[in-house]
Amino acid sequence: NNLPPTTAHFRHVDAMAPQPSAAAAKLSHLKAVVSGEALASEDDDVVVPSHEFSRQALVPSMQKYLEMYKASIEDPAKFWSGIASSEFYWKQKWGDQVYSENIDARKGNIKIEWFKGGITNVCYNCLDRNIDAGLGDKIAIYWESNEPGFDATLTYSQLLHRVCQLANYLKSIGVRKGDAVVVYLPMFMELPITMLACARIGAVHSVVFAGFSAESLAQRIVDCKPKVVITCNAVKRGPKTIHLKDIVDAALIESANNGISVDVCLTYENQSALKRESTKWQKGRDVWWEDVVPKYPTSCDVEWVDAEDPLFLLYTSGSTGKPKGVLHTTGGYMVYAATTFKYAFDYKDSDVYWCTADCGWITGHSYVTYGPMLNGATVVVFEGAPNYPDPGRCWDIVDKFKVTLFYTAPTLVRSLMRDGDEYVTRYSRKSLRVLGSVGEPINPTAWRWFFNVIGGSRCPISDTWWQTETGGFMITPLPGAWPLKPGSATFPFFGVQPVIVDEKGVELDGECSGYLCVKNSWPGAFRTLYGDHERYETTYFKPFPGYYFTGDGCRRDKDGYYWLTGRVDDVINVSGHRIGTAEVESALVSHPHCAEAAVVGVEHEVKGQSIYAFVTPVEGISYSDELRKSLVLTVRQQIGAFAAPDKIHWAPGLPKTRSGKIMRRILRKIASRQLDELGDTSTLADPGVVDQLIQLADI
Ligand code: WT7
Repeated sequence: NNLPPTTAHFRHVDAMAPQPSAAAAKLSHLKAVVSGEALASEDDDVVVPSHEFSRQALVPSMQKYLEMYKASIEDPAKFWSGIASSEFYWKQKWGDQVYSENIDARKGNIKIEWFKGGITNVCYNCLDRNIDAGLGDKIAIYWESNEPGFDATLTYSQLLHRVCQLANYLKSIGVRKGDAVVVYLPMFMELPITMLACARIGAVHSVVFAGFSAESLAQRIVDCKPKVVITCNAVKRGPKTIHLKDIVDAALIESANNGISVDVCLTYENQSALKRESTKWQKGRDVWWEDVVPKYPTSCDVEWVDAEDPLFLLYTSGSTGKPKGVLHTTGGYMVYAATTFKYAFDYKDSDVYWCTADCGWITGHSYVTYGPMLNGATVVVFEGAPNYPDPGRCWDIVDKFKVTLFYTAPTLVRSLMRDGDEYVTRYSRKSLRVLGSVGEPINPTAWRWFFNVIGGSRCPISDTWWQTETGGFMITPLPGAWPLKPGSATFPFFGVQPVIVDEKGVELDGECSGYLCVKNSWPGAFRTLYGDHERYETTYFKPFPGYYFTGDGCRRDKDGYYWLTGRVDDVINVSGHRIGTAEVESALVSHPHCAEAAVVGVEHEVKGQSIYAFVTPVEGISYSDELRKSLVLTVRQQIGAFAAPDKIHWAPGLPKTRSGKIMRRILRKIASRQLDELGDTSTLADPGVVDQLIQLADI
């Protein structure tokens, strides 16, 4: 009964059918897809994989998927230990128990363990193991600079050498197993190199996206107390130069003020952006990467670690102000990241894979560095902005490196769609084989454009739903295995049991919508929030006892397809970046002229959602454009440019209940100008504020 409810329908589908339309016609309850044809609903819009694609796919049919899925659910220990032992190197096998879990908050502490007692190393599995298997001379990284025409490559052997040099340097300054290393780097090759070097010596990396402000960086440094921070002096992003080292300097002052001082700031000199002579320098603390790292030996013994030893920490936003340190451990994460990558992209040894995400986010962890490299894949690492120098840059890169697997976010698809087809069609793109989407729901129009224009109606799209917390894909198409529906992430990955519950936590059957939860654990699940296991339990396991709660709303259609509908908590998703409304609010109220603030997300054509802030200035301060600018600046300084509100809406007061709770539902309606849908405002302490807000909407 845990099988996707499609079983019945799709048993009749012949995924090997020669013509897409012929296969679609067999789905008697679905309308065949003809571009432009009016459909009864999105649910009936299907794109059937071509015979040609399915025939070569790792999972060629729904039948094959169901067989494997069933095995993964009925005996997870057998399923995952089979993969773990045949595809990875273990210095020592795990004990009798492949996994143990308690995800039911009613039964005591939440605890998840996979392959406990197994001894391995993720870096070894990414590099040494693949080199031993003959991939030493295979390209591991094609690096493309911000400026067209500047690039570099590293083979697997060269990558190993670079990783070992850094690992040896880190050891020389006293970094040991279990120590945290904060990384604040742009998409240079040095970023995956740093991640792998940490993994090699058992150090726990915490990569902070280089778009975060000094204050956000400081907050993370104070939380995880690293021995060393690794950064670069400056970076070019499009036409702009950003002085990253200045941001780190400010963060280190702020951390020191909070009692955490960092001994070493290892700084990569990015000469194309800034010379070392012009870089501010603190003697004794700051060290140039180029002066020390290349002097170390190119081999470095591996620190063998337990499967449950931590691999990395990655901070993400929740519904309260403080970022959460999501902790992933070694063995389960390794097996899960690699296996999801392999199946969701139908990976072949000859593929060239490009994921446009930054390693500062989970996508860059699991699907730039670990997942692909565990598979011995060739990965494109791109430093720049995808529309610089013009909106054709991505396809220029695709043609240049003959990219076969291209993985990106809906926001980029929509922004390129707006720029026009001519930037796409002037490039060949014929190397492309599979496309991927991640970060937010992809609207069917953008899906169609991605499929037809970018992929030439030839490449299946894997719309991968997952989260920082899940480590890897949870609901995703397996290309070639079943018909896609534009906008649906389709079906669960092996070992994942999604459930949709109502507000009381009752599991819903069949066609339904509600809160998306997951039953049981999977190897890639995060194990705790760093230093706050209680928050881990409260946020994820207490809302619906017995399940992991994702924070997302979800609908399951009549064919069992899953449709993610967005966050149901106070988290907004701007261009695939997860931002807590409370974080933005706390940045706003730190402004001396802000008395109160409430932030909501509103729909945005390109970004998915944009940040809309209601602000009440302190007594005696009048509304002005200067104040607006300075409020936005405060958010940029405290969080980062990507979290800057698009709109500041002046609010003499906020709509509150008599108990003082802000009614965000009303604010959302005002923000999206759905004024006839305000609903019942009679329970407000002062219903008059609603009219005042409406009057101030366009000021
Ligand atoms: C949230 C997780 C996981 C990598 C990127 C973001 C939303 C993510 C999809 C998708 C619909 C999606 C969800 C989720 N999300 N992928 N394919 N379809 N929604 O990671 O920052 O941890 O955010 O992103 O709302 O909960 P994240």
